[in-house]
Amino acid sequence: AFKKKVEILENNLEYFPDFPKEGILYSEMFKILRTPELFQILRDLLVETAKEFDPKPDVIIGIDSKGFLFGPLVALELKIPFVPIRKRGKLPGKVKSASYVLEYGTDTMEMQEESIQKGQNALLVDDCLATGGTLECASELVKAFQGNLIGCLVITEKYELDGFRKLSCPVKSLMKVK
Ligand code: PRP
Ligand code: MG
Repeated sequence: AFKKKVEILENNLEYFPDFPKEGILYSEMFKILRTPELFQILRDLLVETAKEFDPKPDVIIGIDSKGFLFGPLVALELKIPFVPIRKRGKLPGKVKSASYVLEYGTDTMEMQEESIQKGQNALLVDDCLATGGTLECASELVKAFQGNLIGCLVITEKYELDGFRKLSCPVKSLMKVK
């Protein structure tokens, strides 16, 4: 049943060649979100997959911005906290930050000091794993808080890029895409 549902979602991804720039095949899932039956399937699969992590998460961390669409669905269902990692300059109060490499230059992401407690089991949620730079940076932030990173959960994984190699925790994706 799980596989069948994944197939349904796969058939409803939309592909945009040469976006955001030439040579990149961009897969997009907004058709799924604008179709309630499909969004429900996606939510169910994410929750089911999140429950497979061992140890179990104490907190879900969603990554700015598309991780914000999905992380809260999982957190609410598991009845655990949701906290955001945001791109630089968006969070008030005391924050910790970590930088990551983009094609040209670097960018910084931040997390609020009260976000997670030392030793908490943290699960990172994002829409997609490509080069792995984003999740790698997010894992550094979790480390800076002395959180216990139990894994990363994404919907799509660009299998040709082997992004999981940058990460030292288990990575689960619902779909492998080109
Ligand atoms: C996209 C995507 C992932 C990240 C994956 O985010 O949502 O977060 O790239 O790429 P990587 O594995 O190579 O780091 P992006 O920063 O483009 O912006 P958005 O989520 O704010 O739309
Ligand atoms: Mg993103």
